Amino acid sequence: MMENLRHRSRRLRYSPSVRNLAREGQVTPADLIAPLFVFEGEGPPQPVPSLPGVSRFSLPNLLEEIKELQQLGIPGIALFPCLPAERKDPLGKEALNPETLVLRTIRAIKKTFPTMAVFTDIALDPYTTHGHDGLLNADNTDVENDRTVEVLSKMAVLHAEAGVDMVAPSDMMDGRVAAIRQALDAAGHTKTGILAYSAKFASSFYGPFRDAVGSRQAGNAPPINKQTYQADPANRRAAIQDALLDEKEGADILMVKPAGPYLDVLTELRQNTRLPLAAYQVSGEYAMLQAAAEKGWLELKSARNESLLAIKRAGADMILTYFAKNYAKEY
Ligand code: PBG
Repeated sequence: MMENLRHRSRRLRYSPSVRNLAREGQVTPADLIAPLFVFEGEGPPQPVPSLPGVSRFSLPNLLEEIKELQQLGIPGIALFPCLPAERKDPLGKEALNPETLVLRTIRAIKKTFPTMAVFTDIALDPYTTHGHDGLLNADNTDVENDRTVEVLSKMAVLHAEAGVDMVAPSDMMDGRVAAIRQALDAAGHTKTGILAYSAKFASSFYGPFRDAVGSRQAGNAPPINKQTYQADPANRRAAIQDALLDEKEGADILMVKPAGPYLDVLTELRQNTRLPLAAYQVSGEYAMLQAAAEKGWLELKSARNESLLAIKRAGADMILTYFAKNYAKEY
């Protein structure tokens, strides 16, 4: 009846072996970067309730975790410090303390695991009482661009001195990639790279992360709003423009964040640059899948795999994901 149906797509789908051969791509542990939270002082791992399966670690426990990640074939980690309130102030001065937690952590990791690629956030939010990524203006109504960039450039040089592979400016200030590149080079750190959070949107999906680092809101202040610096979720053209500016300013890797809700941005950026692309499957994307699975509404492993595959298919070369360890264990 249908003998003249020349193309039958199902011929590529009947056999698992043929399906595997015809598959356009796959996610392997070697594509993944694990975000890790480190806290000051001693004590057992502190689970983050809004990120099931994720804990903050003391430095000794963090090193244990990294050992496991390395054995599982995860090539990189992104470090986020969680500081006690007494180390925070409105200027985020702790960020430039040469003995601050993140610098001690980088040194310890590089000493023990020299081949693990270490990425660190360049932004002031772990250090400021108000939780913003930069310095506020005189009437505390907004983040000041150029003064913030000066501090971030100094911060990047400290991280490079401590041995980080790449600094990852996540602040979204204008001109920060050029300023950081110049500061790194002037200090002789020509080998330290820049992974730019290029298309970072003012997203509602960062909530659990802000719980983890304690930047969700300051005291009784309203929940933090970063719309004057992070990109407008409605704007694809503007996001591509931002990312291409970062490329011109000297970024080595461009990142889109969040990942899943912004696959169109990833794909368009893939078509417009030859640089490697990273995508950050952020805390809220992870928490959604975990929550639905807890309720029995989704099967976690296959939903996890599909979410990561979609990000890769859209154009990401590497993915920051809280699933990294779990994925590497079994996928
Ligand atoms: C801070 C920073 C954020 C994330 C990474 N770096 C939060 C923010 O911008 O408020 C979010 C990551 C996540 O949600 O997993 N500069």
